[in-house]
Amino acid sequence: MTLVIKDLCEENLDDHPCFRYMGTTERTISMTKEWLRKVYSKFGSCVKVAYLDGKPVGMIQYAPMDIFPHVNRPDAHKTILIHCIYIAEEHRTKGIGRKLMENLIDDLRKPHPYLDGERFEKIEVLAGKDRPGPAGPVEFFAKMGFRTVKHLGSNDLLMEFQL
Ligand SMILES: CC(C)(COP(=O)(O)OP(=O)(O)OC[C@H]1O[C@@H](n2cnc3c(N)ncnc32)[C@H](O)[C@@H]1OP(=O)(O)O)[C@@H](O)C(=O)NCCC(=O)NCCS
Repeated sequence: MTLVIKDLCEENLDDHPCFRYMGTTERTISMTKEWLRKVYSKFGSCVKVAYLDGKPVGMIQYAPMDIFPHVNRPDAHKTILIHCIYIAEEHRTKGIGRKLMENLIDDLRKPHPYLDGERFEKIEVLAGKDRPGPAGPVEFFAKMGFRTVKHLGSNDLLMEFQL
């Protein structure tokens, strides 16, 4: 089995695993593509896709926090927010999620054109306790070295990873 991780761009846009595995409607696909193109034009690729033997089986989607409307935090420009990590059910527990996360961390530790050659400082995620959403389960992010910043309600935790 060969695992390859690629950045999503116009060429492989239809490989986004959520368009294939999550029962996404045509309207949502079209809105997601519009969002991805918008982020791409400002930041670059914001999705990493895991291909197992050439087939897209998982992804991690993220963006700088200050790309989102209504965010008014002084550290938003140098913070990456993970929206979602998802591995197709039949390919879980094979280390693919870890590979995606490690690939993202490696990339984000390099100087970035979005920051005029400076580096991002941290990654944040809204993780679910005893449930997979909003962006993925707490247990997975804890294993990847994220620490809990605060509890948001009974089921969601804000977690962060210092780059
Ligand atoms: C969470 C998820 C991304 C993990 O991907 P994966 O490829 O199965 O994870 P890995 O095999 O790389 O596991 C890495 C580590 O995390 C641990 N881990 C992963 N998911 C876990 C979970 N749900 N609970 C506890 N530990 C977990 C693994 O045991 C492993 O630990 P180890 O390195 O000590 O052995 C995957 O299970 C998934 O996609 N879940 C659904 C998430 C979802 O619904 N997302 C949509 C919301 S937008």
